Amino acid sequence: MDLTLRVWRQEGPDRPGGFEEYRARDISADASFLEMLDVVNDRLTVEGREPIAFEHDCREGICGSCGVMIDGRPHGPQGGTATCQLHMRHFTDGDVIVVEPWRAGGFPVLKDLVVDRSALDRIIEAGGFISVDTGSAPEANLTPVPKAVADRAMDAAACIGCGACVAACPNNAAQLFTAAKVAHLNLLPQGQPERFMRVRSMVETMERFFGSCTNHGECEAACPKSISIDFIALLNRDFVRSQWRAPTTTGR
Ligand code: FES
Repeated sequence: MDLTLRVWRQEGPDRPGGFEEYRARDISADASFLEMLDVVNDRLTVEGREPIAFEHDCREGICGSCGVMIDGRPHGPQGGTATCQLHMRHFTDGDVIVVEPWRAGGFPVLKDLVVDRSALDRIIEAGGFISVDTGSAPEANLTPVPKAVADRAMDAAACIGCGACVAACPNNAAQLFTAAKVAHLNLLPQGQPERFMRVRSMVETMERFFGSCTNHGECEAACPKSISIDFIALLNRDFVRSQWRAPTTTGR
């Protein structure tokens, strides 16, 4: 395949950015989107030019680091797919593809396609933990969890923290991310001791960095793990209940 890429290039956080055009020639239809960028970068390097900076780690749809806007959509045209698992066969020979970093106030651009997503880490720090048992590892079945509850918690735990939900939201809201992280622990018996502190603290931290949800649903459509916005309803319910249930640990 021969493609034309229009890629956002930006030398640093305080530098102006702009689109530059690159040819991606002889690309295998079986290559992933990141492998296609590797080929482009190899050629740029051979020519003595600065390669395109983009983030990646696992390349297996697990780590959540590879998110970019492809033709205006987080992670590109294939639903339920992270950029690293998007294959070039979903494009057509001769396509012009626009590649940009996440565009959200909470995610400042660091360089080219790389943004600072550490605001998501601040939300996790605010409540993404359970009481620490300093004894030996408990027996696996000591705390019985009904299958339906375990399945639902697992659905929430599928969130890879890529930030596509924020990038897709017209309000730059991080409700789907926060809801998934809250639900993952609040649904389980192990998560009950901090349940209401968790939801208040994580929501308060989220609101320091991101906008508010107005139920557009773009987050669910963009999520590479197809996480349901039903979890946002769960978040809102626990947040309301936390107004009279949370003790003084709020905001810790
Ligand atoms: S590189 Fe890890 S999810 Fe894409």
